[in-house]
Amino acid sequence: MTLHRDRPLVSLVGAGPGDPDLLTLKAARRLQEADLVLYDSLVTPQTVALAGSATRISVGKRAGRPGTSQPAIHAIMIRAARRGRRVVRLKCGDPFVLGRGGEAQALLVAGIPFEVVPGVSTAVAAPALAGIPVTHRGLSSAFVVVSGHSERAYGPVLDGLAPGSATVVVLMGLASRADLASRLLRRGWPGSTPAAVLVASSTAAESAWIGTLAELGRTELADGGGAGTIVIGDVVTLAHAGTTETKRTGMARAR
Ligand SMILES: C[S@@+](CC[C@H](N)C(=O)[O-])C[C@H]1O[C@@H](n2cnc3c(N)ncnc32)[C@H](O)[C@@H]1O
Repeated sequence: MTLHRDRPLVSLVGAGPGDPDLLTLKAARRLQEADLVLYDSLVTPQTVALAGSATRISVGKRAGRPGTSQPAIHAIMIRAARRGRRVVRLKCGDPFVLGRGGEAQALLVAGIPFEVVPGVSTAVAAPALAGIPVTHRGLSSAFVVVSGHSERAYGPVLDGLAPGSATVVVLMGLASRADLASRLLRRGWPGSTPAAVLVASSTAAESAWIGTLAELGRTELADGGGAGTIVIGDVVTLAHAGTTETKRTGMARAR
């Protein structure tokens, strides 16, 4: 679809895990055509740079400072769209996977036409980039994605999962990894279950830790700006061996 200048449109765009080469063609086009780009802190500068001459506003949390509030983000998008500006709301991964947001509803209520441009979610891309398939014949035929942000979000899901019955992928879970691990161990998951922590995947700062569920809670991790994806399950044994060893060393140096 080509954009028409006279028709307002807000594009809710997925930026993928960080490497601009992992953007969809449509996402790249929307960025190039944009007048205004509102982006989160996990969107890489290389991706934002594709926006050409657009005004760029960072609305994410930065260095411990709170980001722009959701109502303020909605107001900026709606005002700009009503002035006929082409607006891109750029979020890491896929915009509808644990994207907080509510932007689509706000635009709907305001009567602003919008579209969703799906992105490559880190829930599958971070493992894939480390050589870990989230499902694999004979190892796992299902995967569950949970938010590690709060116990209320992941507790009921993990408690309902039979040990080893699915690959568990946790986003926003680095800080709660000890609780996540002990919860699964209490539910009967073997301590030897393979586990991985994939930090800043697809960016220059990427690193990976590979170990076991028993080690996950007590391992020290490099600070990847807080962006890390945890994977728990037998599929982790498929992590690319050479890469893993190199990255283990990288992680140790980064402590
Ligand atoms: C608010 S959630 C958004 C998830 C996003 N919508 C998606 O589909 O990937 C942010 C979390 O995504 C994960 N994440 C984002 N970028 C990442 C990256 N480059 N490497 C590893 N994990 C990443 C981290 O778990 C981070 O805390």
